[in-house]
Amino acid sequence: MRELVAETHLGVGQLVAPLFVREGIDQPQPIASLPGVVQHTRASLREEVRQLADLGVRSVILFGVPSIKDSIGSQAFDPEGIVQQALRDLSGIVGDRMVIMADLCVDEYTSHGHCGVLDGPPGDPHTSVDNDATLEIYGKIAVAQANAGAHVVAPSGMMDGQVGAIRAALDAAGHRNTAILAYSAKYASGLYGPFRDAVDCAIVGGGDRKAYQQDWRNAREAMVEVLADLEQGADMVMVKPAMAYLDIIAKVKAAVDVPVAAYHVSGEYAMIKAAAANGWIDHDAVATEHLTAIRRAGADIVLTYLTRWFAEAQAGRAAGGAHA
Ligand code: PBG
Repeated sequence: MRELVAETHLGVGQLVAPLFVREGIDQPQPIASLPGVVQHTRASLREEVRQLADLGVRSVILFGVPSIKDSIGSQAFDPEGIVQQALRDLSGIVGDRMVIMADLCVDEYTSHGHCGVLDGPPGDPHTSVDNDATLEIYGKIAVAQANAGAHVVAPSGMMDGQVGAIRAALDAAGHRNTAILAYSAKYASGLYGPFRDAVDCAIVGGGDRKAYQQDWRNAREAMVEVLADLEQGADMVMVKPAMAYLDIIAKVKAAVDVPVAAYHVSGEYAMIKAAAANGWIDHDAVATEHLTAIRRAGADIVLTYLTRWFAEAQAGRAAGGAHA
């Protein structure tokens, strides 16, 4: 009876697996704060994506870890940059079976760790991110990613005007069908810690991203960001993180007609893994509850490091039949 009347469904088809690919390694590297997630080699990434496709996963989003970082993050738009290489690898493997997304930002690629270029020396209290100079770089990254086969580019740097700049750059390069998933309401959260280990990113001088990411005390501001992104051409909008922002997801869902995504981020995943490893919570129960709650709040799509676990668990349930 409960199954018959359940209002919310969680399926593997709504999940996107974030994957890390690192340049210059020949074995996948574990990430201590993200148990079960690795920095892939190009070869192990290909194998992972093949397996995810076989498990019914419909989409992945790629993050690159380059060997060389510089002040403008040039490896993010170099045609031979690690993500562009990985995108070309994957286009050959998955064809139309999967939606391949690429995170579009420079924080993994800059020597100072910020999501944009700086207007002064890193670590100096008077230095800011140069919003408009960064937009030019984002345009180049979008074109490089689309050239390499990304179906969707996902700008995550929270620069003002980023969606419009990226849409214009893509269109000018003939990539009219490349979609934009905008990280629209992205909060300056404490929950990104394990991700920064995953991409070897630290902000020089111990700064933070509060000048461009949102203040978690604010909800209305999220709507301003979402509506601006839609006006500039976003095809899908995202709220990030997820669990502490279910109210934002619900508000966005009520206000827009495009697909709404939510990112269940690294810290949210790490909390479940750590508590479960201590025997304090039941991993599978809590993971299912959290992902379902994010869907209930209104997310059509959930980006989560739990994707592989969920897909395997679902395949196991299908093979093992019903349970209590
Ligand atoms: C920025 C970016 C971040 C995440 C996704 N894209 C990090 C940040 O803003 O500091 C975090 C994702 C996670 O914590 O899982 N390129």
